[in-house]
Amino acid sequence: IEKKALLYTGKAKAMYATNDPEILWVEYLDQATALNGKRKVPIEQKGRLNNQIASLIFKDLAAHGIVNHFIDQPSDYVQLVRRVTMIPLETVVRNAASGSFERKFAVPHLTKFTEPVLEFFYKSDQLDDPFINESQIQALNVTTPATVAEIKRQALQVNQRLTAIFAAMGVQLVDFKIEFGLTTTGKVLLADEISPDSCRLVDSKTGASLDKDVFRKNLGNLTSVYQEVLARLATVEEA
Ligand code: C5P
Repeated sequence: IEKKALLYTGKAKAMYATNDPEILWVEYLDQATALNGKRKVPIEQKGRLNNQIASLIFKDLAAHGIVNHFIDQPSDYVQLVRRVTMIPLETVVRNAASGSFERKFAVPHLTKFTEPVLEFFYKSDQLDDPFINESQIQALNVTTPATVAEIKRQALQVNQRLTAIFAAMGVQLVDFKIEFGLTTTGKVLLADEISPDSCRLVDSKTGASLDKDVFRKNLGNLTSVYQEVLARLATVEEA
């Protein structure tokens, strides 16, 4: 596979075309952003660590029947993925209260939910990714009701498997965000990334944050936290 033209640079990844129209070349970047990109800081090793973490997670999910866009990780910073048409929704699954949920509803930090909470946000840098409900998704023709139903089904499956992976690492999966795309045949396919940038992870013993909240809240060194997540994940995935 050969890397071709730059298609798009996002907050944490750059996407390139390849000589195969079905395959994209993704480069994970050594930077972190917050406040929808308004704060951007270089972070040593972050691209490599997130690429390795996301690749291990995508492989695990595929092995557990959750098909996704991951194809291969040819080098430290590069992932090859299947090309899809992205659906402009962020799907958030929550197992306990944190972040925007905790702020919005003023519930105690890490209150556990009996059932996972599912939320959608409309992807728009201009609008700062506003919350969107299912009838608003239909009103704006974002995607079809059948696709929304399939996204919800897959998101809850992802939550079950991710919860188990992180529990084996001594980590509580508080919440996470995923994104989906449509294949040329109209199938809903898990895409984008799953990493400590997009998950809220808490050490089960100490309660310490093991995710991007360390950067958002200036709690310490992000590189060493992501190194710790990768080390634990590698142990679990090799076992
Ligand atoms: O901020 P909030 O509590 O709504 O975030 C829920 C989850 O979604 C967190 O794990 C956060 O890291 C993730 N998220 C994300 N990208 C965004 C917004 C939230 O990965 N733009």
